[in-house]
Amino acid sequence: MQIIAGNFKANLSHKEVQDYTKALDSSLAMLSAKRHINFIDMANVDRSDKSAIAVDIFPSLCALSDDSFKHFHIGAQNAYYANSGAFTGEVGLEQLKAFNINRIIIGHSERRILLKEDSKVIANKFRFYAEAGFVIYYCIGEALDVRERGENALEAFLSAQLNDIDVNYKNLIVAYEPIWAIGSGKSASVEQIDATHNMIAKHTSAPLLYGGSVNATNARDILSLANVSGVLVGSASLNPKSFCEIIEAVI
Ligand code: PGA
Repeated sequence: MQIIAGNFKANLSHKEVQDYTKALDSSLAMLSAKRHINFIDMANVDRSDKSAIAVDIFPSLCALSDDSFKHFHIGAQNAYYANSGAFTGEVGLEQLKAFNINRIIIGHSERRILLKEDSKVIANKFRFYAEAGFVIYYCIGEALDVRERGENALEAFLSAQLNDIDVNYKNLIVAYEPIWAIGSGKSASVEQIDATHNMIAKHTSAPLLYGGSVNATNARDILSLANVSGVLVGSASLNPKSFCEIIEAVI
């Protein structure tokens, strides 16, 4: 199984996401019919099915809609670790459940850095949404200075981020996203991704995604690596056409 996920960040309005989801569902329906691809919900499947593809998109919270599409699923980029309550600016589990949403991104570097989410907050979110049975995309990744300190420093940094969560959680997906490759237009090299994913695989058996300037041109090489089970895509997921080209790179 390969997982292709799109993180829209603070882009696309509710209306634009509605148009996007319609276009994506019909493109995936066509791919499914023409190329016999099985698009699955990775929350409920046998992950050993090699030919299956799971597609998830993460619109901004005010552009969420019911997770009711046939060929892909909708998740939340963030939520607070409570059912509901006095948490201004946040959403809780109840609001997500009203959209039948059961997947979430936790630990993205933009939230760690810009929103100052520390490992305690991240661990609380993880525990709460794991308890709720969510599929959790847990992001880890180093800044350039950590990588420049060498392999041991890199492994210590990434394994410390993994230590904040239960790496054996059954609905866990780990996304390795080096901070220096996010939004830079320059992804990590295939050799760097290969070596780092092999390193991370020693610490968890969860599917490992790569994220950081993935596009239709580099996706195929990245997805062909042994310890890469998919990609988490930012900018190149904002247009259903370029996102579908990345999905086609799996086939
Ligand atoms: P990018 O973002 O593809 O625009 O680099 C990836 C991410 O932040 O998940």
